[in-house]
Amino acid sequence: MPGVEAWNLTVLPTLAAVSDYVANVVTETLRSKPDAVIVLPTGSTPLPLFDILSARAARGEIDFSHVQFFSLDDYLGLNGTEPNSLTNWLRNEFINRVNLDPARVHLAPAGASDPERAARDYDQLISQVGGIDLMVLGIGGNGHVAFNEPGASEASRTRVVSLTPETQAQAAAYWHNELDIPPQAMTMGIANMLEARRIILIASGYSKADALRRTVEEPISADMPASLLRHAGDRFEIVADGEAASQLTV
Ligand code: PGA
Repeated sequence: MPGVEAWNLTVLPTLAAVSDYVANVVTETLRSKPDAVIVLPTGSTPLPLFDILSARAARGEIDFSHVQFFSLDDYLGLNGTEPNSLTNWLRNEFINRVNLDPARVHLAPAGASDPERAARDYDQLISQVGGIDLMVLGIGGNGHVAFNEPGASEASRTRVVSLTPETQAQAAAYWHNELDIPPQAMTMGIANMLEARRIILIASGYSKADALRRTVEEPISADMPASLLRHAGDRFEIVADGEAASQLTV
């Protein structure tokens, strides 16, 4: 366990508790800054968080109407409507369930005809709106954050990346291997994450336990992309459930 690093680790018993915790952070963030710039991840881990946030929005306890929302990633060449598109998934699971203003919803331009240029424009837009206030991230079994796979540079920004076979297989399992997973994706980079004012990594389940142990207890390394987030110091927090934390020795 690093002694001088100031980031935080919170272990809660269940994913439900992790989701409540993060929902409260989102709620407080929007209360203190109604036009906050936020990023929420795809994956199965945030689904209970989305349920809480949409229920609170329906009750008028949280207002997304002034929020600038940015997505993290999608498969290259998809335009956001395909069934295996993460953008499509995010619309169904979160965006369309709260009162986000479509003009303030910004989606990783994975289907652009010039993806590299579109990626640079995406980063510029993040700067133009004042940078990211709150970035919530999941973690892959191989330690990826968004689609920053092992080997990703901490200087990386939104760009086109190749997916590992492991990540493609994990993704294909979502659709019972019925839908193809493209070999490349567009993703925000580690530098985009490190610049956020608050970064929360959520982890749930035994399948994340080894990656979480390496993220928390081993030296910071690009081999474990999530560990690079420790460079953000006290702006970085990990919130894990008991299963994900089960291999931690501290
Ligand atoms: P999961 O995905 O929440 O579905 O486990 C997380 C990730 O791979 O980033």
